[in-house]
Amino acid sequence: MDKEVAAMPRHVGFIMDGNGRWAQRRNRKRTFGHKKGAEVIEEVVNECFLEGVEVVSLFAFSTENMSRPQEEKDRIFDLLGKFLKKYSKKLVEEKIRLIVSGDLSPLPQNLAGECALQMAKTAGFSEKTLNIAINYGAKAEITAAVNSLIREGKTEVTEEDIEGRLYTGGLPPVDLVVRTSGEQRLSNFMLWQCAYAELYFTDVLWPDFHKEEVKNALVWYGTRKRRFGGV
Ligand code: FPP
Repeated sequence: MDKEVAAMPRHVGFIMDGNGRWAQRRNRKRTFGHKKGAEVIEEVVNECFLEGVEVVSLFAFSTENMSRPQEEKDRIFDLLGKFLKKYSKKLVEEKIRLIVSGDLSPLPQNLAGECALQMAKTAGFSEKTLNIAINYGAKAEITAAVNSLIREGKTEVTEEDIEGRLYTGGLPPVDLVVRTSGEQRLSNFMLWQCAYAELYFTDVLWPDFHKEEVKNALVWYGTRKRRFGGV
């Protein structure tokens, strides 16, 4: 990485937005945009790990996206399954731990099974982590964490208690969030983990987001002064 980068984020989260618009601008179906969007993921993730990022989180599908037409959901689930199958060799070769965050119970059984299998196979790796959020919502994640502590008899909880029950328990917090397509919001993505994240917004649509764009975001991050509430 260029020497002007002062600091490298340990954890980067991507809100992969704009697939539908990318396709519509080409008079194609939204699902074509998702296919193209899935194709750039490997390049983006590789670039992050190459630059020294330890954890990459991808917002692939929100709980709210569950209300999309069945055809679009099926296509996204299919792409995710194909991605996991294709990427599984690399996960092992490059010792990348896979985490899938979200409620997997309403997903097609073969996809939920593939997620569980790849998570189990890579659970022992610790240097690099790929976290894919699917049927995920941060408020639901935090609520479930607190409820599980209550079920264990806790009447008062600490931040550490809650943190330990999140899908990302034990991982560093998100340092940098990248959202494509010009929208400037978090959309219920990793709200706890993003408490002090720097937010990078770009007009580039996700299918056009390549490694040069990753570099731009990392260089921008290096210019930020992070005070974490201090002076
Ligand atoms: C947001 O664009 C994108 C999604 C809801 C789905 C993202 C899914 C993929 C990139 C493919 C599958 C994932 C993996 C990990 C292989 P949008 O549809 O909201 O676009 P729009 O805002 O232009 O309508």
